[in-house]
Amino acid sequence: MVEAKTSSFSRVTMTELMIPAYANFGGKIHGGILLSLMDKVAYAAASKHSGAYCVTVSVDTVDFLQPVEVGELVSLMASVNYVGNSSMVIGIKVISENVKTGQVKHTNTCYFTMVAKGEDDRPSMVPKLILENKTDVRRFVEAIFRKRFKKDYESNLKQIKKSWDKQEIATLLASERCINQSK
Ligand SMILES: CC(C)(COP(=O)(O)OP(=O)(O)OC[C@H]1O[C@@H](n2cnc3c(N)ncnc32)[C@H](O)[C@@H]1OP(=O)(O)O)[C@@H](O)C(=O)NCCC(=O)NCCS
Repeated sequence: MVEAKTSSFSRVTMTELMIPAYANFGGKIHGGILLSLMDKVAYAAASKHSGAYCVTVSVDTVDFLQPVEVGELVSLMASVNYVGNSSMVIGIKVISENVKTGQVKHTNTCYFTMVAKGEDDRPSMVPKLILENKTDVRRFVEAIFRKRFKKDYESNLKQIKKSWDKQEIATLLASERCINQSK
């Protein structure tokens, strides 16, 4: 295995025309189509970095900021932002371009965690990431914090679930738009 690789080695851009078959009933592009494209570009970057077959483990912060229209060109730019032992965080920026007007929209940025697998179908070690510039360092450090925040979020939620009581739930739900019929 190669000891270390730069993120520029595995950087991938994928462009796809949004055809009518991709549209939902409202005439806009299905979120699921975009998710599928993101998964593909994440796979391409992860497999280039690792030189191995990879699987998607986790998808973070997929917020669709703007609708994508039929006829637009969607470009997905992916790079390896962080590597662990077998895992890699792939940052993906998605933009959509109206070719007639030249208008470019940033539709979303998200983070896919991919894991490289060996011939035995077990997670396998990936090359280290060479951080060539300040952007590489910022992305790597942000990924470390995102990982920590996710861990904290999960343990906080676990703690809250353990300790909440009926009265607390009733108070919380009183200000929400729901009708609680449970006894
Ligand atoms: C992901 C998978 C390989 C983990 O296998 P495992 O035997 O639990 O292995 P480990 O616990 O050693 O985890 C492997 C790596 O995944 C990471 N990982 C596991 N679950 C994770 C999660 N929910 N979010 C982020 N990373 C995760 C671990 O941190 C570890 O990273 P590291 O090697 O860089 O330290 C296994 O659960 C799997 O194959 N899942 C199905 C993936 C798949 O089919 N995806 C397609 C979606 S349909």
